[in-house]
Amino acid sequence: MKYHLLMLAAFTTVLAACSEPADSENKKQAESPAVVSSKHIRITDSEQIRRGKKVFQQNCAICHGAKGEGKSPAPPLNGSGHAWHHSSQMNRRTISDGTKHLGGTMPAWKDKLSEQEITDVMAWFQSKWSDEIYQLWYEKVESKNK
Ligand code: HEC
Repeated sequence: MKYHLLMLAAFTTVLAACSEPADSENKKQAESPAVVSSKHIRITDSEQIRRGKKVFQQNCAICHGAKGEGKSPAPPLNGSGHAWHHSSQMNRRTISDGTKHLGGTMPAWKDKLSEQEITDVMAWFQSKWSDEIYQLWYEKVESKNK
């Protein structure tokens, strides 16, 4: 009997301990940004993503597919293709200048879209990337490009 009570006490302690970590974890992160610095915070500005979606549908979807899934010869931009291997600076250049000067077929957008619209459309297709892809991109590509 004594043993059972002890077990119960131990069990309750474990339960109490279990409910805590999430909380203290949050506090730790809030107090010291260093804890979260290894994880890049994704852009989740939905207003920007909504604007970018419009830009994409009006200008890019015809070649890259309605959801950026790609349509030959235009590659996917939704994270399943190669676009995440490039820094945002490189993707911006591709979008601004197109690829005709490189023997490709993508038109240049710099005279048709503003810098802001290009930023928005990149935010939109990046919002399609999984967290894993986004994290990999940030660590292996984007952060090395600064
Ligand atoms: C006329 C078809 C066409 C349109 C319209 C178009 N693209 Fe493309 N895009 C392509 C093709 C094709 C490629 C691959 C390079 C090539 O062969 O020219 C490409 C490549 C890209 C890449 C590089 C992807 C990678 O994996 O390296 C990005 C980023 C991109 N396009 C974004 C856009 C955005 C954003 C828009 C709209 C503003 C757009 N494209 C409109 C055809 C198009």
